[in-house]
Amino acid sequence: MRQRNIKNLEEKLEMNSGFLIREPKELKGRWKEVFGNDNPLYLEIGCGKGKFIFSMAQANPGRNYIAIEGQSNVVLRALEKAEEGRLGNLRIFIDYVDDLNDYFDKGELGGIYLNFSDPWPKARHAKRRLTYRKRLANYREVLADGAAIEFKTDNDDLFRFTLEEIEAGGFEIAEMTKDLHNSSFKAKDITTEYEDRFKTGGKNINYVKFK
Ligand SMILES: C[S@@+](CC[C@H](N)C(=O)[O-])C[C@H]1O[C@@H](n2cnc3c(N)ncnc32)[C@H](O)[C@@H]1O
Repeated sequence: MRQRNIKNLEEKLEMNSGFLIREPKELKGRWKEVFGNDNPLYLEIGCGKGKFIFSMAQANPGRNYIAIEGQSNVVLRALEKAEEGRLGNLRIFIDYVDDLNDYFDKGELGGIYLNFSDPWPKARHAKRRLTYRKRLANYREVLADGAAIEFKTDNDDLFRFTLEEIEAGGFEIAEMTKDLHNSSFKAKDITTEYEDRFKTGGKNINYVKFK
């Protein structure tokens, strides 16, 4: 995603910090306390400007959502949206996630969303892809039994790679299509910023849900 410098970024983050979690590692195993209920917890890694997670939280008040984004200038828009919508079931934190065990206990998550993750096209960077097999194994550690990972991408090569990693990891595919917006899967109903852009351009969107 293109970086944009935002003047007084830290000040703006502070002004929109109502939904921002500053010390997420301290909440490992205690996210229920943040939301004040026992509702299932869903995570998006790399939320960008937050359209997807905000819409998910709005549509599903009986679920809690956490969005993680590494770029603080991008996440500002997500925080502004969260402030405007005042959704009690959404929180955001800024970090480049590596090991999810740093933030979540075993089985603490009800699902994970990966949307239009950076493709890292060079073979030598394959380990940086968010669907690299060691990362998938890491996600499984913090997912509850039967909880799914959902992945959407415009990038056909990354999708092929991801299907290989899913197979290598012994996951079971629940839903899969190379053309989400001409399918009957519910995952097409709530879109991301990148998805809207590719959809408008006529690009097929790949989608897989697996557990
Ligand atoms: C191509 S953008 C897609 C944004 C959004 N999901 C969408 O579909 O519109 C990928 C985003 O993932 C973020 N990202 C990549 N690796 C990450 C990581 N390990 N932890 C958190 N965010 C990450 C990037 O900073 C970038 O904003």
